Amino acid sequence: MREYSIAAIPADGIGPEVIDAGITVLEVLAEQRGDLKLEFSHFDWGSDYYKRNGVMMPADGLERLRKFDAIYFGAVGAVDVPDHVTLWGLRLQICQGFDQYANVRPTKILPGIASPLRDVRAGDLDWVIVRENSEGEYSGAGGRVHRGLPEEVGMDVSVFTRVGVERIIRYAFRLAQSRPRKLLTVVTKSNAQRHGMVMWDEIAEKISHEFPDVTWDKMLVDAMTVRMVLKPQSLDTIVATNLHADVLSDLAGALTGSLGVAPTANIDPERRFPSMFEPIHGSAFDITGKGIANPIATFWTAVQMLSHLGEHEAADQLMRAIERAGEAGILTPDLGGKATTRQVTEAVSDAIRGRNVLMG
Ligand SMILES: NC(=O)c1ccc[n+]([C@@H]2O[C@H](COP(=O)([O-])OP(=O)(O)OC[C@H]3O[C@@H](n4cnc5c(N)ncnc54)[C@H](O)[C@@H]3O)[C@@H](O)[C@H]2O)c1
Repeated sequence: MREYSIAAIPADGIGPEVIDAGITVLEVLAEQRGDLKLEFSHFDWGSDYYKRNGVMMPADGLERLRKFDAIYFGAVGAVDVPDHVTLWGLRLQICQGFDQYANVRPTKILPGIASPLRDVRAGDLDWVIVRENSEGEYSGAGGRVHRGLPEEVGMDVSVFTRVGVERIIRYAFRLAQSRPRKLLTVVTKSNAQRHGMVMWDEIAEKISHEFPDVTWDKMLVDAMTVRMVLKPQSLDTIVATNLHADVLSDLAGALTGSLGVAPTANIDPERRFPSMFEPIHGSAFDITGKGIANPIATFWTAVQMLSHLGEHEAADQLMRAIERAGEAGILTPDLGGKATTRQVTEAVSDAIRGRNVLMG
């Protein structure tokens, strides 16, 4: 029996609904397999905690999380708390504090789910987007002066370091090398941004020599959006900066049917700290409390969590169960279906148990 301790931080909006669903299927999986024990500890950090305490998490929050094997995270964002407070107060504190510099976002069209792209089917779009997760446009460097005056200045400084760029590009080459097509696309904006982005291009060229079996090319981020829509088959592994990959992966989520299926893993590849697993989407104010949040992204990020923990068989079993629920047409309204969060959760649980998958 292998045991793992997981910190669950559901946080805001639909976060608690999807994390609850995720824990349910993980517990079914552990029980069904019998070789795996997952111990969840719940943390009530987030916007409600902020309204009570003036902070999104306690000062010793990182210290308390450090002992866990992984973090399972919902979403942050509340209508009555500024977005930069919720994001920087919790999610980015954890990503940066634990140096989770590789943000890994698998994207593919799952069985039973239609892409909005005409003639694009499962198998035509199968990518992994690697987002630099520790610096770049979201480094937090910058400031505001002369607040409220006509001459006010606001600056966000994009910080690209050689260490930061080398490690993410090497990570992406390694990931591309591990996939059947061994294909990497490096995305920048080095025509307009002639310092940090040109350094990215130079570093990619240098690191490519360590991976002679990987075919790679470069794209400008604006042209990349066109290629993602018109030639999805031509892409496999993609690496980009914090901001560019953030935007591209929302597009990728939409191209595979819904943001509600798109997962992400915030990885510390050196394993000095726990890594964090979450859906890409936010707190989705418009559907909170309605019981219709799509839990697939949260299930798929659990697959990433199990793989990261070395539980590859369990990860494959969960992924197959997710695919079976889709094949059976048990889909939430964002995917054109009528199922609730609970019905999708039950369908995936049934598939894990090897039962028929039917709409409950
Ligand atoms: N990682 C995060 O925690 C994160 C990410 C993005 C946005 N946010 C925050 O979330 C709040 C809302 O932001 P937003 O509306 O721009 O983005 P969002 O991702 O919350 O929602 C965008 C749209 O996608 C839909 N959607 C998202 N997840 C879904 C799911 N699982 N099932 C079905 N539909 C789903 C929503 O209903 C909405 O129409 C803001 O406060 C924002 O700052 C947080």
